[in-house]
Amino acid sequence: MASDLTNSVLDALSASDGPILSSEAFPSSPSLNVKSAVDRLASRHMVEYETIDREVITLTKEGEEIVANGSHEAKVYEAVVAAIDGLKISELPGIVGKDNAKIGQGNAFKRGWIKKDKDLLRANADSIVDETREQLQTIQRTQTLGDAKVVADLKKRKLITLQKVINFKISKGPKFAREFVKEQTDLTAEMLMNGSWKTAKLKPYNFKAKGAPVSTGALHPLNKVRQEFRNIFFEMGFEEMPTNRYVETGFWNFDALFVPQQHPARDLQDTFYVADPPKADPPREDPLEDPHRPKSSQPKSQATTEKSLDYKEYWENVRQVHESGKYGSIGYRYPWSPDESLRLVLRTHTTSVSTYVLHKLAANPRPARYFSIDRVFRNEAVDATHLAEFHQIEGVIADFGLTLGGLIGFMEVFFGKMGIHKLRFKPAYNPYTEPSMEIFGYHGGLGKWVEIGNSGMFRPEMLEPMGLPKDIRVYGFGLSLERPTMIKYGVSNIRELLGHKVDLNFIETNPAVRLEKD
Ligand code: PHE
Repeated sequence: MASDLTNSVLDALSASDGPILSSEAFPSSPSLNVKSAVDRLASRHMVEYETIDREVITLTKEGEEIVANGSHEAKVYEAVVAAIDGLKISELPGIVGKDNAKIGQGNAFKRGWIKKDKDLLRANADSIVDETREQLQTIQRTQTLGDAKVVADLKKRKLITLQKVINFKISKGPKFAREFVKEQTDLTAEMLMNGSWKTAKLKPYNFKAKGAPVSTGALHPLNKVRQEFRNIFFEMGFEEMPTNRYVETGFWNFDALFVPQQHPARDLQDTFYVADPPKADPPREDPLEDPHRPKSSQPKSQATTEKSLDYKEYWENVRQVHESGKYGSIGYRYPWSPDESLRLVLRTHTTSVSTYVLHKLAANPRPARYFSIDRVFRNEAVDATHLAEFHQIEGVIADFGLTLGGLIGFMEVFFGKMGIHKLRFKPAYNPYTEPSMEIFGYHGGLGKWVEIGNSGMFRPEMLEPMGLPKDIRVYGFGLSLERPTMIKYGVSNIRELLGHKVDLNFIETNPAVRLEKD
């Protein structure tokens, strides 16, 4: 045990006049145990030590055999000397053995001990010195040999092996004592009461020790990726939309977006409806500050004349564009239900927020760029890649004379900032955009095209009822925050990222994120 060794080291030092060598004092103790014992003593300045790495040579079985009985070449020489009239080469293996004959013959020739006379071997020296055996004997005694060339040669002949051995040269330190007294790490109430504190040896503070890890808050990977996207948007001149309303009316989530009231997305299976209260008030001006409105476009004191379209009129325009058509559209031609529009839903997309913000923009139509990144809810079956809620990244660009080519060009720049450089667009359908495009990106890591977003140009049926002029065009696009986060962090099951199955250790230890900007 290491603690026994601790006292053994002290004993050995007390008994000796000078330093001791661990290889001599404790030949059978593993060097790791010796090290922990001397480290312990050294930390209290009871001993000092230095480490000496040493190459130790040991004999192989064959090497030991030579020490006992002589080298191959010596055996061959003896056999030749013993045969007075010369020894037939073919008889040699029978006398000294096959290995000795093969190796020994060559070496004996090289050393000039024997010579060849036709098919006979004859002695060529009166006496020999078996150097190999002597070298091996030295090694057996001292575990070393001065001549590196000979060592290399013996090693090649597989007669020895080399081993690195760690040895400690230990001497008394300034606080040397004969016994290792366990130091107290705590001053206890008991010690104070029974007075033992007066004589107790207290362990000094170790200011070099690493502290215990402190548990701290940590950013969720989704928040980290979200921040990266926010930076991209800010870099491109976007303003953030306030997304603090999870509950919306059907009006803002669907009707204002020209989603017909019979649209399958409005089914109970796809949308969560709020039962209580059963109905919202029709949209109206918020007498207090409008939480939906981006800060910079809050009416300033001198610009209070800026006013968006009257809500009643907007409401009426939406009804008409659905029911009978307006603005050159023939509409859906169905009886539009105000009650359906006033049902409360958990927003199914953040396009409800974009719609509200665009409607505010109509008061002062001008080029604008808005974005939001927040939670949306869908009544979906939960599986490895779907949850009933996720985060949507959404962008909206309003300007005069925008074209579809401009949207494609913008997407290339936007996704390029995330390290996605190959894009493909596929015609798609959204009730509120025309044309609409699904966006696919080539994922180098996965080696395939993956769907990364949905986009389009908002329809006049959506923009004109809110009072935006005919010549203003608006792009919109949306993508999920979870997908790029899962790819970035190598998470294959969305439930490891969000919800009650998330491993807090993963949240605490996950690295910072950087979208590749090559
Ligand atoms: N709302 C769409 C979605 O849920 C995204 C989108 C936003 C599409 C704006 C076009 C325009 O996927």
